[in-house]
Amino acid sequence: MYSEKVMDHFRNPRNVGAIEDADGVGKVGNPVCGDIMELTIKVEDGVITDARFRTFGCGAAIATSSMVTELVKGKTVEEALSISNRAVAEALGGLPPIKMHCSALAEQALQSAIQDYMGRQKGSPGETKESGSGETEEQD
Ligand code: FES
Repeated sequence: MYSEKVMDHFRNPRNVGAIEDADGVGKVGNPVCGDIMELTIKVEDGVITDARFRTFGCGAAIATSSMVTELVKGKTVEEALSISNRAVAEALGGLPPIKMHCSALAEQALQSAIQDYMGRQKGSPGETKESGSGETEEQD
């Protein structure tokens, strides 16, 4: 039912964990099955240098999370934004149609982490969050 690559990434998932000082965090869930995926990314000069994931979910969700962390490393945020769940599934040698929705979780987690990164850039242009003396916090 599953390709060898899927089984490999399920058994030996790459980049498991969370980046402590991440530049972007994405957390998404599938309301139907209840599975949850969290993706953290590190970005330097617009390029994703590290990505880690924590997934509480099915084997296909774990394999696609693992693959997405491999795919985004070394890509610019713009390039990473265009990675579709189909591309992730293809990189794994395909997924059974009934499991394609699991790969959607990986795409959404990636999009969400990048949105978070971009939001932070707008929030404090040109400086890091840690500096924060006398900053006013804005929420919309
Ligand atoms: Fe929930 Fe696969 S069954 S993500």
